[in-house]
Amino acid sequence: MERVEVLLDEATVNKRIADIGAQISKDFEGREVHLICVLKGGAPFMCELAKRITLPKVSLDFMSVSSYGSGTKSSGVVKIVKDLDEELEGKNVIVIEDIIDSGRTLSYLMEIFRQRHPADLKLCTLLDKPEGRVVDDVTVDYVGFEVPDEFVVGYGLDYDQKYRNLPYIGVVKFD
Ligand code: IMP
Ligand code: MG
Repeated sequence: MERVEVLLDEATVNKRIADIGAQISKDFEGREVHLICVLKGGAPFMCELAKRITLPKVSLDFMSVSSYGSGTKSSGVVKIVKDLDEELEGKNVIVIEDIIDSGRTLSYLMEIFRQRHPADLKLCTLLDKPEGRVVDDVTVDYVGFEVPDEFVVGYGLDYDQKYRNLPYIGVVKFD
């Protein structure tokens, strides 16, 4: 059985999310913002972040993708399980992700979103693992924290569907 060690505690994570919310509110002043959550991992982050954006017009949509398999590495093959409900044409879109590791999932998704002609398209991730990157076409606009190349869970991130509910970010240790 694995155990989880705290990497970023609840107060630290929530403070950083509040800061990103304030930054987005400033960057998009006078505009409407459409947040897209990549399920399931992005959901807790999106909920917390959306509350910290003070703009008057914020809308939310959800997309579910699966990258096949339940191990600790993304396969790079992405399947859309549930597409967005709304069109992106002309909208100021911010894509909300839990973590960017190899970047394959986001490289694929951002291209799909780009083809739907949003007015603006930004990427916001709670965690970034720059050492894991294998693609070079993913630009991240808002990053919560950079994390080392270890398997992390909590705040939406899972290990075999567990630990998504943790209010902090932890590292999985396999003894
Ligand atoms: P990428 O395609 O390699 O960038 O990986 C993207 C997806 O893999 C993320 O959205 C997560 O679902 C999953 N993932 C990558 N690293 C981790 C991790 O450390 N913990 C939990 N999930 C991870
Ligand atoms: Mg994910």
